[in-house]
Amino acid sequence: MADIQSTHAPAPKVILRSDYRPPEWLVPQVALDVALDAQKTQVRATLHVERNGAHEQPLRLDGDALTLVEVRVDGATLAAGDWTMDDEGALVIPLVGDAHVIETLVEISPAANTKLMGLYASGGLLCTQCEAEGFRRITFFPDRPDVLSRYDVRMEADKTLYPVLLANGDPVEKGDLPNGRHWARWTDPFAKPCYLFAMVAGDLACNADGFTTMSGRSVALGIWVREEDLPRTDHAMKALKDSMAWDERVYGREYDLDVFNIVAVSDFNFGAMENKGLNIFNSRYVLADPETATDMDYDAVEGVVAHEYFHNWSGNRITCRDWFQLSLKEGFTVYRDQSFSADMGSPAVKRVEDVRVLRAAQFQEDAGPLAHPVRPESYMEISNFYTATVYNKGAELIRMMALLLGPERFRRGTDLYFERHDGQAVTCEDFVRAMEDGGEIELSQFRLWYSQAGTPRISVSMDHDPATGTAKLTFRQSVPATPGQAEKAPMAIPLRLALFDPETQSHSGDELVVLTAPETVVERKGFSTPPILSINRGFSAPVIVEMDRTHQDLSFLSAHDDDPFGRYEAMQQLMVNVLLGRISGGPLESAPVIEAVARTIADPALDGALVAEAARLPSEAYLGDQMLIVDPDAIHGARDDLQAEIGSALESEWRAIHARSARNGFSLSSDAKAARRLRTLSLSYLAASGAKDASELALQQFETADNMTERQGALAVLANGASEARETVLAAFHDRYAGNALVIDKWFQTQAFALHPDTVEIVEALGRHPDFTLSNPNRARSLFGAFGGNQWAFNRKDGKGYRMLADTIIALDAINPQTAARFVTPLGRWRRFDEVRGAMMRSELERIVAAPGVSKDVLEQAGKSLQG
Ligand code: TRP
Ligand code: ZN
Repeated sequence: MADIQSTHAPAPKVILRSDYRPPEWLVPQVALDVALDAQKTQVRATLHVERNGAHEQPLRLDGDALTLVEVRVDGATLAAGDWTMDDEGALVIPLVGDAHVIETLVEISPAANTKLMGLYASGGLLCTQCEAEGFRRITFFPDRPDVLSRYDVRMEADKTLYPVLLANGDPVEKGDLPNGRHWARWTDPFAKPCYLFAMVAGDLACNADGFTTMSGRSVALGIWVREEDLPRTDHAMKALKDSMAWDERVYGREYDLDVFNIVAVSDFNFGAMENKGLNIFNSRYVLADPETATDMDYDAVEGVVAHEYFHNWSGNRITCRDWFQLSLKEGFTVYRDQSFSADMGSPAVKRVEDVRVLRAAQFQEDAGPLAHPVRPESYMEISNFYTATVYNKGAELIRMMALLLGPERFRRGTDLYFERHDGQAVTCEDFVRAMEDGGEIELSQFRLWYSQAGTPRISVSMDHDPATGTAKLTFRQSVPATPGQAEKAPMAIPLRLALFDPETQSHSGDELVVLTAPETVVERKGFSTPPILSINRGFSAPVIVEMDRTHQDLSFLSAHDDDPFGRYEAMQQLMVNVLLGRISGGPLESAPVIEAVARTIADPALDGALVAEAARLPSEAYLGDQMLIVDPDAIHGARDDLQAEIGSALESEWRAIHARSARNGFSLSSDAKAARRLRTLSLSYLAASGAKDASELALQQFETADNMTERQGALAVLANGASEARETVLAAFHDRYAGNALVIDKWFQTQAFALHPDTVEIVEALGRHPDFTLSNPNRARSLFGAFGGNQWAFNRKDGKGYRMLADTIIALDAINPQTAARFVTPLGRWRRFDEVRGAMMRSELERIVAAPGVSKDVLEQAGKSLQG
């Protein structure tokens, strides 16, 4: 296969799922000897390699940004002609026998590693990130998940700078060396793919605790942070112990090493990483205390700690055969962490939150140029496939299987999966087969969920025959075309539904209907008057339901549906309908919404957190998603008007809620959390109402709050409008938290999210603020990630928002391509905007694609966004 000669940089290679071949060489055993230093680290690797099957292929070891010093085979140094380097930077060594010992010595520079993949420096620490393909930036190795090895790691470093040395598995030996250096040796008894390798060196303090497993083994737990952050680690520790107990109870999975460590780092491309026995976390998912973390932050810490811990079984003990199978571990693990969080708090509220994320991120992805199946068919850069589709839609697939099977058979399926594949690198297909065999079900049509991209649409109509008392429901499904997939087959779609009798306000049972054909008709008897359909209860399938519904029906469901998700959904749909009516030029029919909100906030039987979710208006972006051509100004105007009307019509109610939910001593109880949600919601309605004292109330909430949830809530309300109080609280917030990076991120993010007429200029100025830097992913995301998600500001008519984001992507690409590539998405929505905006967005994408030295990460996303 010869590449076409070109004067331009070669187009990045496309990797195909269908090209998968088993590895030619295996590496059952690895020893690493690492002399750590921020400027120049030396890595000596000893690989025991074995030929896999009969073939004559040389050994090929991936490498990236490594300086090769020496190569030996079976103890003998190779001469320069005995190995080659291919055009992708891999080291190629011809070998005659079936088993050899390969030793390499390389040099790397952690301090110069701004991509944050491989070994890098962060706030005085040295740490690693290897998933997906970072291990090749540490040493030459077959960097693919189906090569499983046992690791023996010796680390050596300056003892003052790096008193703590951590790696995977168990600590076995340590000692001091001359010149103020020391060393430690760690061995991991479990064979693992190299993406799970990890190492940390630094001056860290430890929150040490323990857990006794179900078989009575004791595990030493450690959360390692900078000394001053120690008091903020208790919530993460509790989450860890809860997760360990939950996985035993719910899945029968026990932890398998004597040690489990978590390290927090401030520079990290993602949320966290499940390295065997040594999870490395973005500090924002470890640190929490009432003064600096919101309730959402607390929940995110709990969820991410659980997620990474659960990977020990769903990901580590059983891993992916190749990166196309990523959802095997991510979809399943997200489903597991969602179920855990639901059990720890309110299942109804958790479901609402998860669906909101799914719709905001995954439905949008599925409807755009970057749409791909849960199991993709091809990629240029695998980092671009750590997506909402692979993670969140992947989790919905597992959830649907769990629903189809019921809890007991689902558990039999997962038991079989864990038993059958322990220690292996497997595929999504293997998971589905374990569900079929263990759960005794047939899932052939269901498999289309893995291969077909696009969000299915279900249109529903109902005919009622009063003579026979029959309700006839007709469901028609269709899956829209997506890039590379013009034609789709009908899918297996499990819909939970119930038919309410409007008179008795009840139904005679919730049922599961599985659509398998393009059209399905269901008839139910016993209705003298037309029943009201509650459909996709609990959001049983990740689909879009299209149905003409009256305000009365939605109002009815928002009051009487016994499925809490259904109630929330009816309320949101009512708001959407009213807003879309206004956006398309009609009057603002606020009365039914006001009435439904009034009823909801007055219902003493409802969970306050659910009330707050139901009474909140849908986001501007969600409204945009309901339109063929998004009109950001009309959406903003209509939503603002409705908020003002709800605010003033119910002003005394909002005042009462705001007063009643005032601080009552910080606690994480669900009542206290619900009160805080309601407090800021009522404040935002009061501000929208135009009440004269609203900014006074916000200022008071800001000043008297004993927690970050209320303080940031007040800050966000004030950041939306022009007032003196706005400047006061922004300055006070910055002063109060100067030096606390995670809170300063909130300061940037709140302003970038603000529905303020000058957000574009504000963000531009913040980009030059002394606290701003593109080198820290959290900081870059807090400003420009948030800005890209602010539909009204980002899509400002003059195109300045587009230009600013494109400039940012180009600048960041030179530092951290993986993070830069994630900022491309908002520009890829150009088809959904008017021609003037669309043309400006396209020309920014073209500028990005043509930027000198553009990375393959950014090139793939921007290139696909232009075609799509
Ligand atoms: N596997 C990680 C998770 O728990 C994801 C992850 C962490 C990651 N760091 C990364 C993915 C860097 C890509 C690049 O979901
Ligand atoms: Zn994960």
